[in-house]
Amino acid sequence: MRILVTGATGQIGSELTLALRRRYGSENVVAAFHRTPLPPPLKDSGPSVRLDVTDRAELEEAVREYKPNVIYHLAAILSAKGEENPAAAWRVNLGGLYNVLEVARAGGVRQVFWPSSIAVFGPKTPKDNTPQDTVLSPTTMYGVTKVAGEYLCDYYARRFRLDVRGVRYPGIISSETPPGGGTTDYAVEMFYAAVKGERYTCFVRPDTVLPMMYMPDCLKAAIQLMEADPSSLTRRADYNVAAMSFSAEELAAEIRKHVPSFQVEYRPDFRQEIADSWPRSIDDSAAREDWGWEPSYDLSRMVEDMLARLKRRLQAEL
Ligand SMILES: NC(=O)c1ccc[n+]([C@@H]2O[C@H](COP(=O)([O-])OP(=O)(O)OC[C@H]3O[C@@H](n4cnc5c(N)ncnc54)[C@H](O)[C@@H]3O)[C@@H](O)[C@H]2O)c1
Repeated sequence: MRILVTGATGQIGSELTLALRRRYGSENVVAAFHRTPLPPPLKDSGPSVRLDVTDRAELEEAVREYKPNVIYHLAAILSAKGEENPAAAWRVNLGGLYNVLEVARAGGVRQVFWPSSIAVFGPKTPKDNTPQDTVLSPTTMYGVTKVAGEYLCDYYARRFRLDVRGVRYPGIISSETPPGGGTTDYAVEMFYAAVKGERYTCFVRPDTVLPMMYMPDCLKAAIQLMEADPSSLTRRADYNVAAMSFSAEELAAEIRKHVPSFQVEYRPDFRQEIADSWPRSIDDSAAREDWGWEPSYDLSRMVEDMLARLKRRLQAEL
């Protein structure tokens, strides 16, 4: 197996690339980066290539050179950043996905992983236990590109028999690489502030509840879905996956069990409206039935592990 990972320096890519290298061999996983240079653990542990996913020729060149049979396509502009620059979100998210699918089908790539998001849902979607098949109605450019992307993946699977798979991730919480401009970034930022002994100003209201997932589950979902027996799959790139749901103040309270002095003030900004348009919890029974999805982390286990890891990492950087 030879794998190309786009967006390898991102919040998910930086950890997924290392997980894939551990599983399939370092030499077999090519880390594709764009503007952000690769950090040493990624640069030193396997092959890498610089490429812009909106540039078809660069992608073709990388596929010619490294001959991947699997692409994990993670390069994207996230929800909050996408509202600051909708044109870039359209160009990178849909233009990039279109290029990847085209280059994959022409270049003999067998399988593509592409993550969608809970941002496909909107104000008309049922907010609790959001069904797999329901009204989408996204209100952000990011969400629009994810809805169109899901259909594009479906199209390539049907029309060209490309094995495209993906999940609708909730907000991802992780300790290694800070998030890149999404609406759920507050959940990660709270941990950094708590560990540094700082007061945190949260950009959503305390009662804002959103579905979230800890990074080990995020990596598990991607790899498990990609390794699933194709005959058991009933969907392509739109599997709902869930792990936990909590409000901003519930997260702060859980962190306070470990860091009692931690203080949060709430000053909602434009991201509140995006958060309010998304579900509070997700029904992921299709993923559970088709490929055995089951998360390992709930809120208390995640908070404990996240604080321990972040403390170690931030102390090592001092
Ligand atoms: N992190 C989350 O909470 C979350 C939730 C749902 C879905 N997702 C999806 O997972 C994927 C990865 O997300 P992430 O959180 O790691 O994002 P991120 O913002 O941390 O990283 C995105 C990466 O894309 C790269 N990139 C941007 N423009 C590029 C271009 N033109 N060419 C090549 N690379 C480019 C950036 O350099 C960065 O490394 C995305 O598709 C995202 O929509 C993430």
